[in-house]
Amino acid sequence: MTRVKKKKTQAKTKILALLVAFLAGSLTLVATLVMVMPHRVTQPSSVGGPFALTDQNGNTVTDATFKGEPFLVFFGFTNCPDVCPTTLYEMSEVLNRLGSDANKTAALFVTVDPERDTPEKLKQYISSFHPRIFGLTGTEEQIDAIKKEYRVFAKKVPTKDGDYTMDHTAVVYLMDKNGRFVAPFNLSRSADEAAADLRKRL
Ligand code: NI
Repeated sequence: MTRVKKKKTQAKTKILALLVAFLAGSLTLVATLVMVMPHRVTQPSSVGGPFALTDQNGNTVTDATFKGEPFLVFFGFTNCPDVCPTTLYEMSEVLNRLGSDANKTAALFVTVDPERDTPEKLKQYISSFHPRIFGLTGTEEQIDAIKKEYRVFAKKVPTKDGDYTMDHTAVVYLMDKNGRFVAPFNLSRSADEAAADLRKRL
């Protein structure tokens, strides 16, 4: 290696070291900011909000419809092969445990596939589940708005047969009587336990 080349290499190493130091510094700064900043994103009050959708009977349903009742919200689509039907089944079990008190609450199944999930299709689909489960759809704008409020991720995924499926957030949201987010509703415990938890909010 010639002297000149060596110098150049040394200079390059120096620049690289500086760059690494700068990046590390920036990362530390970002990490610190994230930790120091109030956790707005995860603050309960920031999940949920007003909405206007159409239920399985073609009626307009808004956040005001459920004022005074705690309710569950779940996003999915009727063509979902496993997660959605399982969740709706588990929700039905919880609502069954509440007996007549189930009338004081509701579970909203909001489609992330309004293109295919018409009120008619939702009506047929949810007829296999508890009657306090509402199937909600809307225009693309209405669905986008509620997805944004609930921080729901949903994405079309093409299937081999030229059709598509949807990847989507599978959180069940527990909302209080004022429509404010309480916590994710845990359905992996027994239906009795989950029902007792929901009953406390009535
Ligand atoms: Ni699903």
